[in-house]
Amino acid sequence: MIMSYDNFYELVKTRRSVHRFKPDPVPDEYVEKILEVARWAPSGANAQPWEFIVIRDRGLQQKIIEIHKQSQTVSKRMELAREEDLRHPTAYMNNTWADPGYAGAPVWILVLGDPRYKETFLVHPLLTYGDANFYSSLASTFVLIHLSAKSLGLGSQWMTSAALPFMQALLHDMLNIPRQFYIYDMACIGFPVEQPKPRLVRPLDEMVHHDRYEMSKYRSNEQVLEHIKTVSLARQQAAGRR
Ligand SMILES: Cc1cc2nc3c(=O)[nH]c(=O)nc-3n(C[C@H](O)[C@H](O)[C@H](O)COP(=O)(O)O)c2cc1C
Repeated sequence: MIMSYDNFYELVKTRRSVHRFKPDPVPDEYVEKILEVARWAPSGANAQPWEFIVIRDRGLQQKIIEIHKQSQTVSKRMELAREEDLRHPTAYMNNTWADPGYAGAPVWILVLGDPRYKETFLVHPLLTYGDANFYSSLASTFVLIHLSAKSLGLGSQWMTSAALPFMQALLHDMLNIPRQFYIYDMACIGFPVEQPKPRLVRPLDEMVHHDRYEMSKYRSNEQVLEHIKTVSLARQQAAGRR
């Protein structure tokens, strides 16, 4: 046996998003190990459409943080128009943005997708040229980055903002990324200040169906809304803003 189920389950269960990092540097060898795992990720038709930029330069990181903070001011205004209980925890913060949690992570790994690899797939009248495979493949390597970081005693945060259209444009220029590349998400990695507590996970029985969809398990709109409120509240409490 390569690895016991119990060990793997423990790794998956204890991997949590980390928002507070120690300033300690992450050894190059750890970053290499993480990327070594990432390159073995499964991808549609084995296209492996990914490339990685390891960002350690503090000056570059600071510029990215500033752009991100600017954009947050606008999105906060939009967020405040939502029902109060559904608002993102950061909507309660004032306009002077503190540095986001990932700012303290010494190493950031930006995942890029080269769309030319979409041509690995057969053209089908009802499908785009491998679009779904492309994004799923990027997610596949990305999850492995987080899990391998955890296995090395590191913490990581999944940063979606890098993929937002305005960030795409700025990051292409700032990091000299060829225009056609899609910027996927960014993993911000470092040694965690603390191990976050276990989080809420939906019960297995509620999401598994046997042979056919069991309508008795179909969740009403109210139940879904209740779930969204519960996880939003939990995140707000974790962020200490309620
Ligand atoms: C597709 C996706 C996008 C995410 N984007 C962000 C993000 O932009 N910022 C962030 O802090 N966390 C982000 N996360 C992390 C999730 O909020 C987090 O995984 C989820 O709340 C579960 O918590 P855990 O990672 O601690 O188990 C993202 C996760 C996924 C899968």
